Amino acid sequence: MVNKLRVLATRALPAAVTDRLTQDYEAHLNPDDRLMSAQEIVSAAEGCFAIICTGSDRFDAALIERLPASVKLVATFSVGYEHIDVAAARSRAIQVSNTPDVLTDATAEIALLCLLGAARRAWEAQTLLREDRWVGWTTTQLCGTQVSGKRLGILGMGRIGRAVAARARGFGMTIHYANRRRLAQDQEQGAVYHAQPEDMLPHCDFLSLNAPSTPETHHFLNAERIALLPKGAIVVNTARGSLVDDAALIEALTSGKVAAAGLDVFEGEPKIDARYRTLPNTFLLPHVGSATVETRNAMGFACLNNLDAVAAGRSGPSILTA
Ligand code: DGY
Repeated sequence: MVNKLRVLATRALPAAVTDRLTQDYEAHLNPDDRLMSAQEIVSAAEGCFAIICTGSDRFDAALIERLPASVKLVATFSVGYEHIDVAAARSRAIQVSNTPDVLTDATAEIALLCLLGAARRAWEAQTLLREDRWVGWTTTQLCGTQVSGKRLGILGMGRIGRAVAARARGFGMTIHYANRRRLAQDQEQGAVYHAQPEDMLPHCDFLSLNAPSTPETHHFLNAERIALLPKGAIVVNTARGSLVDDAALIEALTSGKVAAAGLDVFEGEPKIDARYRTLPNTFLLPHVGSATVETRNAMGFACLNNLDAVAAGRSGPSILTA
């Protein structure tokens, strides 16, 4: 019998992914889905050739330094990889992979849910019904902001930004975007390019954040940039909480400068700024952008495809190279 390679999964995985993992590898699983400490990860990784982790695990240089020499791959169950010090991994000849592409549609769908939920006051409407306070239809009740005919500015026109644009066009929105580079015409599809995000902001009836978390995007949406938005703009964030200066956005939501916000991600999540909960003009979701059965399975299989390739001495389909 051939010995199976050993793999650590730091968090519980979808059933279909666990089945394939345990069929092909000797898996150290975490069925209770408890967040493991750095020490627990280091100990559990002993003898493992790969670790499947998630965005909740912090693979900083200190942890990577302590990983057993057997570890050749850290496969994150996420497209974002700001929780992994890729340079530190590389210096130990540990490869890092992520899960691009497969969560584009699911995340774009949630961006549209946040956009519509914020614009049409979905939380207030739901609450009215659930608290049994609805006394019937009136001409002025819960009037929100119409989406069709409005301008949507997208920060970050990668795969997810473009998928958001495609869906927003279906709602009759005009697209503006700010991106490090201008897209080719067939990808741009008539969207208006702004080389500087600051030039785009005055055109944003709606602003959708779709850029990765980097030192450059940290607190992108701060008081100065909010001031550039039209009064009553609506903000959507399905990228990373770190892109938003919470104090500035909460101030703008309170003053009415920003009419509403649809947020799926938060700085310091799951401990979100408590003031978001008390604002009536927020539509809040607990980081569920990729949370469909289809997408979570595909993310898990993407991790396993990378494991299989590295185990066979090949480069995986989504090994990070830069
Ligand atoms: C990712 O993959 O980076 C997402 O945030 C998880 O949904």
